[in-house]
Amino acid sequence: MQRQLSLDILVDDEERRRSLCDDVRAGLSSPKKYIPPAWFYDEAGSRLFDEITRLPEYYPTRAERAILTRHASDIAAATRADTLVEIGSGTSDKTRLLLDAMAAAGHLERIILFDISREVLADAAEHLNLLYDVDVHAVVGDFRHHLGNVPAVGRQLWAFLGGTIGNLLPAGRRQLLECCRRQMGRDGRLLLGTDLVKDVGRLLAAYDDASGITAAFDRNVLAVINRELHASFDPELFDHRAVWDADERWIEMRLRARRPHTVVVEDLDLVVSFRAGEEILTEISAKFTPSQVAGELVGAGLAPRAVWYDDDDDFQLTLARPLPLVQGDLGPRPES
Ligand code: SAH
Ligand code: AVI
Repeated sequence: MQRQLSLDILVDDEERRRSLCDDVRAGLSSPKKYIPPAWFYDEAGSRLFDEITRLPEYYPTRAERAILTRHASDIAAATRADTLVEIGSGTSDKTRLLLDAMAAAGHLERIILFDISREVLADAAEHLNLLYDVDVHAVVGDFRHHLGNVPAVGRQLWAFLGGTIGNLLPAGRRQLLECCRRQMGRDGRLLLGTDLVKDVGRLLAAYDDASGITAAFDRNVLAVINRELHASFDPELFDHRAVWDADERWIEMRLRARRPHTVVVEDLDLVVSFRAGEEILTEISAKFTPSQVAGELVGAGLAPRAVWYDDDDDFQLTLARPLPLVQGDLGPRPES
């Protein structure tokens, strides 16, 4: 009998629209214009991200896959988890290495996928439901706000892969890690993927590839705003730029206006003026040192237990467990 497949929608169309309105109004009214990266991932954006993962310049996906290929069985053995919770799961492609190892160890009972992009999430959940003889529960939500709704069942391994944690500002990273810690239960574990600081030339190429896929991904956010809020952006009036901020140790993706012009966002009654060369910040992608990863985890009440690297030391996977901060603040998981 095929196991159950369920979809839980924490962000419905109305909530999504409200949140997009708030973000676009705040971001485009700010003296330094910005749009949060969560809005990249409509169907076209998710497809473009998938193309990015196969670009010769974009090493993170290959590096993380290499680590998982080598160490998934160590991770399964170390955690003895029966429930995989993946946040920002996307296609969950690399995750199959982890699931195969958990299934081979005889523990895998259920999969919980959490992503803001309903289409990519539903496809991934269906696919995993066919591949593994376990229940698959998909949750459409925003990991900045809704992780408290992840069902508290089983012995959980939370996976936050791809380096997506680096797309959050430090305060957002801390908040998310604290929320993971609270939610995963005493026996829970976190597997965190982080991209590492490296040669700036390689970083810039990874975020501004020769074939222009990353530029198309970046500009796609303007198409999302056009479609959903009836805005008049001409994406071709913006150049994609990748800039390394050496102080913050993060890449910034920016869209730079080629000439002065005005954009109307009809649904917000908002008129936005751009000067020539004015930029919209669309993403930060932080790069870490190993000690910084450990520091951020400990700061959020998580103790690193094991770390793994690819052969080129491009990327790091860390397995962490929750530290009890005050007596009794982490209860046992209810029986599933
Ligand atoms: N984990 C996959 C996908 C990374 S792409 C990998 O390693 O390849 C980033 C994923 O996070 C996308 O699927 C996107 O839809 C999701 N995402 C981005 N912002 C999000 C948010 N605020 N809440 C939930 N999911 C988010
Ligand atoms: C999803 N995230 C980890 C990607 C990154 O590398 O920061 C998003 C991305 N942006 C441009 N290319 C890929």
